[in-house]
Amino acid sequence: QQPSVWISRPTFPEVTVRLEPYFRVLAEPREAKFTPAELAAKLADCDAAIVGLKERVGVAEVAGARRLRIVANLGVGYDNLDLAALTAAGIAASNTADVLNESVADYAWALLLGAARRVGAAERWLRAGQWRATEFKGWLGAEVRGRTLGILGMGRIGQAIARRAQGFGMPVLYHNRSRLPETTERECRARFVDKGMLMRESDFLVLVLPLTSQTRHAIGAAELAQMKPTAVLVNVARGGIVDDAALAAALREGRLAAAGLDVFEGEPNVHQDLLALDNALLSPHIASATTETRRAMTAVAVDNVLALFGHGAHAGHPPNLLNPEALAVGRAPFLTR
Ligand code: GLV
Ligand code: GLV
Repeated sequence: QQPSVWISRPTFPEVTVRLEPYFRVLAEPREAKFTPAELAAKLADCDAAIVGLKERVGVAEVAGARRLRIVANLGVGYDNLDLAALTAAGIAASNTADVLNESVADYAWALLLGAARRVGAAERWLRAGQWRATEFKGWLGAEVRGRTLGILGMGRIGQAIARRAQGFGMPVLYHNRSRLPETTERECRARFVDKGMLMRESDFLVLVLPLTSQTRHAIGAAELAQMKPTAVLVNVARGGIVDDAALAAALREGRLAAAGLDVFEGEPNVHQDLLALDNALLSPHIASATTETRRAMTAVAVDNVLALFGHGAHAGHPPNLLNPEALAVGRAPFLTR
């Protein structure tokens, strides 16, 4: 019998075309939120799974997944996967690194500019029929050109954001667990600083770091207090990196000028205090959402599934494998070891 692959979300037709020669394809026909028990049942019934970020896969979800060999995540961040649990069960995991760098970098700039220039609030005002009441000195936003851009988390996406800053004549500061090679720093025209300096000096601070136990609330009340009251915070990384209650308080009390947020603690729920603020520009986790990028992300997930089962251009070597140790556990007999 052919192995089966479960796809948790509707994707693109080419996915089925590529998988069908080798797999029975079980693609969800519509978006759904699965309970842990439903997810466990889905995973128990397939050999490979392509899942989205809202699928949280942990010990309980894989406990009964006896045939499952790979969970391919539709996203670069994989805090929704308990990698230790997958590895212990001999289940490979993959992400979609790199293909979304440019679209996420574009979107970080959309939020930066939109929050600086109050695009969301201005649009709400216009739609409410209030244009006539607009004043010459109304709607004053923050000037962007020449101001200092700070980037917390300087991976490939952070670097793509930094490169765009050259067009705005902005000096770039960054902080990261490890410093970039000098050639990369030069190419990005970015200067490494400690986190405190990044907080104090940035006029625009963009967060692009993964969510881990170390980065939870990396931006909390203490960090917000270090920032300039004129500064704008942008988060295209993960909810939970920012303490949303503390952020809402800072925005409300004028200790921070504005924020552009694509991600939230406890999403799809958004903190009530943020929803009430006009100086918060909010979007529903869409930074990678262009047709090209979402197609590319899906293709990468398929590449990894095919590779794990010994097919396609990367046969035997899933290109985005997150836990090579899982292969040693021996569930993947098709692999070249
Ligand atoms: C999106 O949030 C991703 O991690 O790809
Ligand atoms: C923020 O500045 C908004 O426009 O909502």
